Order: sequence, then C-alpha cells, then structure tokens
Amino acid sequence: MNTADLIWLNGEFVAWEDAKVHVLTHALHYGTGVFEGIRAYETERGTAIFRHQDHLDRIEASAKLYYMDLPFSKEQLREATHELIGRNGFKSCYIRPLVWRGYGPMGLNPLDNPVEAMVAVWEWGAYLGEEGKRDGVRARVSSYRRISADSLIPHSKASGQYLNSVLAKIESEKAGYEEGILLDQRGLVCEGTGENLFIVKDGKIATPGFNSSILGGINRLSAITIAQDLGYEVVERDVARGELYTADEIFMTGTAAELTPIREIDDQAIGTGEPGPVTRAVQEVFEDALHGRSDRYADWLDIVPQVAPAK
Ligand SMILES: Cc1ncc(COP(=O)(O)O)c(C=O)c1O
Repeated sequence: MNTADLIWLNGEFVAWEDAKVHVLTHALHYGTGVFEGIRAYETERGTAIFRHQDHLDRIEASAKLYYMDLPFSKEQLREATHELIGRNGFKSCYIRPLVWRGYGPMGLNPLDNPVEAMVAVWEWGAYLGEEGKRDGVRARVSSYRRISADSLIPHSKASGQYLNSVLAKIESEKAGYEEGILLDQRGLVCEGTGENLFIVKDGKIATPGFNSSILGGINRLSAITIAQDLGYEVVERDVARGELYTADEIFMTGTAAELTPIREIDDQAIGTGEPGPVTRAVQEVFEDALHGRSDRYADWLDIVPQVAPAK
C-alpha cells in the first residue's frame, strides 16, 4: 500500500504516522463504524471524484442506521477530502472516509461514546488487477451466506458487518479463487465480497435487488444507467444460483474492483470463458465515465480544486 503524507482526522490534517486512536475505541471492539470507498481519477478537467455526493449521502445513511449523526457536515467532509487530495499531491487515489464510535464507556450501548471521523487517501490500483478487468476473474460461491436483515442491516456499509466479507474473501483466496460470491439467507445470489453482481442472458441483464440483502452499490447504479442508455434491458430481480453457471456473461461492479468480468465460477466457464460483448460495451462506457471522457456522465464527477501540495 502506498501511503500519503497527511490524513484528515476529526477536523485536523495530521501526518500519516500520527493518525492514531485509543485502544479502547468502541469501534475497535464492537465494529461500530461506517465507512465509504471512493475513487478519484485524473481527468482532463483535473482530479475528479466519482459520484462523491452519492458516497457522502450513503455514509450519512449508514451512520443513521447505527444511531450516529455525522460529526461534520457532508460539505465539510467534501471540502476536507478535496484539500487532502491536493495537499497530498495525488492526481488519482482511493478515498476512505470512516465515521466511528470513539473512546468512552465500554458497554455495548455506544450512545454516550463520541462519534469521530477521518478521511484517508492513498494510491491504489485495480483491486482485482488490470488483468482481471481485461480477462475476467475466477470466483467461487462462498460457503458463507451474506448477512441478512434479520440480524444486521445490509443497507449500511458498517465496519463490523465486514467480518462476513472477510471470511468469504479468505475462504475464496485460500481455495485459489480471486473472489467469493455470497448467496443470501434464502440461497439466492446476493453479491461479491465487495462488489455487486450482474448476469447477462440472451442479451438481457439481471441483478439482485435490495430484498437479496445487497449493499446498494453506487457503481451498480452507474452500470444500470449505462446499460439502459446503451439500450439493454436491466431487471432487478431474484437470481438463482443455477443461473450463474448458465449465464452468457457475468460481471461485478464496485469502487475498488471497478467493472470486472467473471470468467469462471466454481470451475465452470461463464459463456465462452471470456468477457462477452455486453460486459465489454458497458465496461467501456463505464471506464470513460470514471476517467472523465464521457460528456453524458460528466455530472457524476466532483472536480477537486487545485491546491499546492504541502511539501
Ligand atoms: C459488500 C459490498 N457490496 C457492494 C459494493 C459495491 O459498492 P460501490 O459500487 O458503492 O463501491 C461494495 C463496495 O463498497 C461492498 O463492500
């Protein structure tokens, strides 16, 4: 991981090595934090944060679902992120805001613990590799089910909930696959450990909806819009496990993985075993949108005002 010079912590810009919390931080023990994963890309108009406002809205919603008010306004977080990127001198980077219950009472009711916030940025390449984006990755269906709304809140991008993804990710990598696909509590397809899933059959696209316990991915929405604008039919519906193996094409979307095709699941080739034409068409426009090469989706970009790096 490439570090940066500065991290924004509770309103201050501090050196990377000084961005510390107390060991009795509530979130460290009980997972009471919510976070975002966001990316900024170098574009002709300058460094551009992809769908920044949507990510800020989602962290606010995630926090609310766990009884937290953001300790800074979304506009303050937005401006802090701009300044952080500028002062670190990054042209493109990954952005990680985190809001969490801090040091205070150690009981399970966190409502008297302070709510803290930080934003970190670092340079991070394609999560499943450039090769993965080009040729597709191999995935397995995880033996772990996605957390259900019976016991947690799948809508919230909450730190503690990620133990579910961590287990599935470890399991899939140990078994020699690049990604794990989780089924929901009903045994229907949900999503990857950090990505939403799309299947293509006979030219039509389907993706699981909120009743499958998905995280409402922002790139999922972008892919749906792009696919529809390209003239494809996109349906949000339950997807049975068997449909994975008989699909013509499958791809995943997420901030870290961007749009990555899947070429094999459980050792079965998907379609021809190579990314198909629908995946390629959506991926191409999606990449253009991310990198500011698309006028049509230009308003998805939050351009970072230029400031001199702190060095
Ligand atoms: C569990 C999970 N599902 C889906 C996604 C995709 O969401 P997004 O497209 O907003 O990055 C992510 C990544 O944030 C995730 O962690």
